[in-house]
Amino acid sequence: MSLTTTTITQKYHDAIVDWQERNFPELDILMKHWDDYFKGVPPFQLVAKVGGLKSNIVEVGQYAGNKRFEHAKEMVGNAFFSARDIVRAQCSTELGSIQQHRLTLDKAVSDKAKFAVLRIMAEELRHAYQMFWVLDQDPTWKKPGLGDVAKQTIEELLSMELGGHVLDAFNIDFNDFLDNVTYATVIDLVGKYQLDMQQVFSYAPMARSMGPMLQEEAFHIGSGRKLLKEISQMAARGEGDYSIEDVQRAMNLWFPRGLEMFGNEQGGETAVTFGFKDKRNGTAQSEYVEEVRGVVRNVNVAIVQEHIPSVSREEAHSLIDEIEKSRDPKRGIRLEDLIAVPDLKFFRKRGPEEVIFKPYAIRGELLTERGAPLSPDEYLRYLSTVLPAKFIGSREYNKYVDQMREYLANK
Ligand SMILES: [Fe+2]
Ligand SMILES: [Fe+2]
Repeated sequence: MSLTTTTITQKYHDAIVDWQERNFPELDILMKHWDDYFKGVPPFQLVAKVGGLKSNIVEVGQYAGNKRFEHAKEMVGNAFFSARDIVRAQCSTELGSIQQHRLTLDKAVSDKAKFAVLRIMAEELRHAYQMFWVLDQDPTWKKPGLGDVAKQTIEELLSMELGGHVLDAFNIDFNDFLDNVTYATVIDLVGKYQLDMQQVFSYAPMARSMGPMLQEEAFHIGSGRKLLKEISQMAARGEGDYSIEDVQRAMNLWFPRGLEMFGNEQGGETAVTFGFKDKRNGTAQSEYVEEVRGVVRNVNVAIVQEHIPSVSREEAHSLIDEIEKSRDPKRGIRLEDLIAVPDLKFFRKRGPEEVIFKPYAIRGELLTERGAPLSPDEYLRYLSTVLPAKFIGSREYNKYVDQMREYLANK
């Protein structure tokens, strides 16, 4: 598909370069060693990439059959701000992820892993730039009576710090390299689903931005999966800095936040109605869950093969099925030697009433004590046994506790 590159207004370009110098000074190291790690891949450039469209016609929702919108002002009523909110949330995830990855860059398991993360960070910076382009290339984001919505949004985004980003997943501080890796595996994967759905976006400049971003996301997800597998294989051999339990705890931390990035699984009509996405939240979320299960299964197969080198992939699959079903050890491999994808009800703070702030365990059972569901304090004690130790007591953990107490008090 055809692709052109472009830049944004100089003052915004300078502003994002300034942001990069403060939040991602390591970009220089990446550029200096690009060819050592990514020979044959065109070096990173801070530009907007404008891809082609499958068609000029809106594909879903109330405008289906109409020409796509070239100007923000054509989006009337709630659609205008709803589109702005999607661009803002998308851009916040890009900037937030750079701030998160940076915290533990020096804990990378190898130089290769470190440079993979540096490239991911650079590409997230480009994605933020891309969202600035969406706002900057169209003067009609400036609306009489509403002021310059593009300018307000860009300035707000540039001032966001960890803790102040739009989505919860982008406020959690990384504590070790397992966070970088698990995050690239399960959080970037949500990004892939969002970008994929947004290829239908009725506002054409947003739709044109999705293809090039999706291409880059493939590297992020691929790097995450590869490293997650390598770290788990090492853990199975008793090597490296991390145990299988550490991997499991990281999964328990990130997967629930990934689920919630889709929005309430019982909603999402509006985005479809406005022609911004082609799937409702629940549909996209289920597909995502299946994909994560496949990724984790692949890691488990590798773990089994570490324990029993002679076993075929097929045999490993049936062995895992048996262990997961019976929860009993088989051929020396215990349930806790494998990685589990947490149940969808575990550690939820957003979504359906039936699950949020309810004391569900990783494997989906409602935790009880003397026949009654665990109290908030008892559940927090449980969480401290299944989440990374350094997350407990952190800013985002405290936020969860406060929100839980407030939610339960208002019931
Ligand atoms: Fe991105
Ligand atoms: Fe990414």
